[in-house]
Amino acid sequence: MRDGHALPQAGNPRPRLFRLPEDRAVINRMGFNNLGLEVFATHLRARSRSGVVGANLGANKDSADRIGDYVTGLRRLWGLADYFTVNVSSPNTPGLRTLQTAEALDELGRRLDETRGGLRAKLDPPLFLKVAPDLDDAEVETIVEIAVQRGFDGLIVSNTTVDRPASLRSKARIEAGGLSGAPLFARSTRLLKLFAEAAQGRLVLIGAGGVGSGADAFAKIRAGARAVQLYTALVYGGPGLIADIKRDLAARLRAEGFRSVEEAASAK
Ligand SMILES: Cc1cc2nc3c(=O)[nH]c(=O)nc-3n(C[C@H](O)[C@H](O)[C@H](O)COP(=O)(O)O)c2cc1C
Repeated sequence: MRDGHALPQAGNPRPRLFRLPEDRAVINRMGFNNLGLEVFATHLRARSRSGVVGANLGANKDSADRIGDYVTGLRRLWGLADYFTVNVSSPNTPGLRTLQTAEALDELGRRLDETRGGLRAKLDPPLFLKVAPDLDDAEVETIVEIAVQRGFDGLIVSNTTVDRPASLRSKARIEAGGLSGAPLFARSTRLLKLFAEAAQGRLVLIGAGGVGSGADAFAKIRAGARAVQLYTALVYGGPGLIADIKRDLAARLRAEGFRSVEEAASAK
């Protein structure tokens, strides 16, 4: 392919996924195990068209043109996903997170914006940049300005952390990879708030990291998120958790006098 290769890859050797039950957390070092872009596109095409499905774009581990892989992914999946996530924050592909640094991010944003410009006839699905929770506070403003400048619609804050909080108790805490779930909540929510302050309404923010209850979702929203995502809590809570969170969140919004998530996200 011209832009990048986007090939199948095996990911890291197993075991590569670990439960930390005492911490309501998970450590993973999957390494983008996948069957390649063509198979992914076929699956997306075959899905029933209900619900909202986003496509998460990354780069092959051995790619000679990482930015090209994102461009290839965006082109191939255009029209097949409701939104796109540009994942520059997985800790499990060596060097991927350097795409968050100013020069590389600007070039990635420029190439994606140019690609979108060529594809945007009827469809214009939103493009979200997904960042790591391990950024320095000083990087927040730079990322926001580049994201605005290069036409990203918003940010997903955040991916998994390479940090290991001292509070972790489970045996698997020594494993390498990205930590997700409850111990990520405080760090990712603090960063979300910093991004909201820097963005000043110019970007839509999506809160991710340790959401496991209506109270967690509400806290992300009050920190500036217009939507939340969760993954690890489903491991421990099962799919019924979503309905519980929605019910509890609606009650909390009402109790605080908010008429919508948007209102709660933008209120001081
Ligand atoms: C097994 C596993 C695989 C993941 N794979 C990806 C991925 O391919 N792309 C990505 O952007 N985030 C990936 N993540 C990160 C999650 O999407 C999410 O941002 C993170 O786990 C924090 O949310 P949580 O605490 O609700 O799990 C993965 C997380 C887990 C646990």
